[in-house]
Amino acid sequence: MSQKKLYFFANWKMYLDYDESNILANGLAEEIKNKERNYEMTIFPNALSLQTTSQTLNDVGVNTGIQNGYWIDKGGYTGETSFIMAENVGCKYALVGHSERRHQFKETNHEVRIKLENILNNTRLTPVLCVGETQQERAEDKTLEVLEAQLRAAYDSLTWNKERDLIIAYEPVWAIGTGNACEPLDAQIQHERIKKIVNQLISDIKPIILYGGSVNAENSFDYLKQEDISGVLVGGASTKLESWLQIIKNAEKL
Ligand code: 13P
Repeated sequence: MSQKKLYFFANWKMYLDYDESNILANGLAEEIKNKERNYEMTIFPNALSLQTTSQTLNDVGVNTGIQNGYWIDKGGYTGETSFIMAENVGCKYALVGHSERRHQFKETNHEVRIKLENILNNTRLTPVLCVGETQQERAEDKTLEVLEAQLRAAYDSLTWNKERDLIIAYEPVWAIGTGNACEPLDAQIQHERIKKIVNQLISDIKPIILYGGSVNAENSFDYLKQEDISGVLVGGASTKLESWLQIIKNAEKL
């Protein structure tokens, strides 16, 4: 396996219900429990399945994370789940600003920022910030502008405790769930840009940047071999045990 530390993050979105999530978590735990690993694996199940899947997966060294959370710890916020509540049931990570949140649920850059602040100030979770441009923004040559605005809103003047990894997922909106994956060399260019912008915003930090958007067992290797791609954030292909295990296995060739 590669010299660089690799990150395999699985976003199960709302694809699997409680039973399906637990069956997949058990199957995954069974497959990898006695295997030596030098990569980081994190699963983001639906919120209802967080506690049971965390028990199963944390036992075999696989982390869990919440897909979205609210920025206040407790109170009259019907339907919400706070980040600290996710930490209390075993989570180590939290996705923030996933494009489905930004576009389908109209989450703003400002909301992304206050979620990040809550996570950093009130929990021990590591946030995974998702950024990416839409098809139209790309067509209008605004990719850099969009990435810069999303990153600036998230990190500008933010105090970062260097003990905590700074993880970003570059997920171009047009590549998510479409089968229309970003060319690996193109993704590498965007990752380089992201790294540069983050370094201007927060000093002395080495961002870990994952690629997401139609990653599967056929194309994952081409991303992982790029210099500034430290791992993948996978949706659909992570919800089937065989394709998820194959994505991990492919990295052995690095
Ligand atoms: P797909 O892998 O299904 O395109 O989803 C990517 C994603 O949104 C991961 O967060």
